[in-house]
Amino acid sequence: GRVAVLMGGESAEREVSLKSGKAVLAALQSAGVDAFAVDFLVEADSNLLQQLASLEFDTAFIILHGRGGEDGVVQAALQMLGKPYTGSGVAASALAMDKWRTKLVWHALGLPTKPSSLINAETDPAGLISQLGLPLAIKPVHEGSSVGLMKVNSEKMLGDACLVAGRHDSMIMAEPWISGKELTVAIVNGKVLTPIWLQTTHEFYDYDAKYLANDTRYNFDTGLDIAELTELTRICQQAFDVIGCHGWGRLDLIRDEQGRSWLLEVNTVPGMTDHSLVPMAAKQAGMSMEVLVLEILASAFD
Ligand code: DAL
Ligand code: MG
Repeated sequence: GRVAVLMGGESAEREVSLKSGKAVLAALQSAGVDAFAVDFLVEADSNLLQQLASLEFDTAFIILHGRGGEDGVVQAALQMLGKPYTGSGVAASALAMDKWRTKLVWHALGLPTKPSSLINAETDPAGLISQLGLPLAIKPVHEGSSVGLMKVNSEKMLGDACLVAGRHDSMIMAEPWISGKELTVAIVNGKVLTPIWLQTTHEFYDYDAKYLANDTRYNFDTGLDIAELTELTRICQQAFDVIGCHGWGRLDLIRDEQGRSWLLEVNTVPGMTDHSLVPMAAKQAGMSMEVLVLEILASAFD
């Protein structure tokens, strides 16, 4: 049948999604799939359901990042229309978009993640710092691609970081800043792929390091021994499963200087740009971009 590749959207990650979508569309077409692009902007005189219902397609390949596309809303609309779609369902998509609640679930189930805290007008900066320490990561709860994320080294930096995060979300969270190796682990149709260690010349793997820099190094040699790799794989599989994720996704972690890996978040619609990590991990596993998109497409039917 016909595959609609839903891309773009209205989130802060619109440009990333358009790049991901282009790459997915090209790979689907090169694999012989009848696919077309939908730049997903909900116009003022229309609504999401009308727009989806007016399109002629059999299956949706969702490559929208961020709120309105990765958070269960589009998934629910497709479900109402009876159209199969790739990736996670409504509940897992919504939960994974909420980094704070995702961490609460992981923590409750004994998975390794640092405690975090919501910040609001009543938050006492000194109390927050005595609870979580310094430095802190301050971030919007429902953002992606490091948009609105800041490292805070002192109490006096906290206010500015909250202003920045608050431009992107009404919910802001703080978590301890972990220094160490930034790791990412892709999962595609039940297969946990080899972790990638992101080595950046930036202070951390920020938006520019993710999509613009050409000096970010993607290292498959993470320095983990077999036992550590097995443990990391187990943690990621479990972290994916307990959120209820389906089909594909990507876990982001940091391995601290003591060699402990800490979960940060799970992405239910990870980037698929030419700088993105799931395509790299797939390639390392011997999967071409064509095979990768076909595997993801298959997730719409199981
Ligand atoms: N949020 C971006 C697209 C990612 O996780 O790759
Ligand atoms: Mg993310």
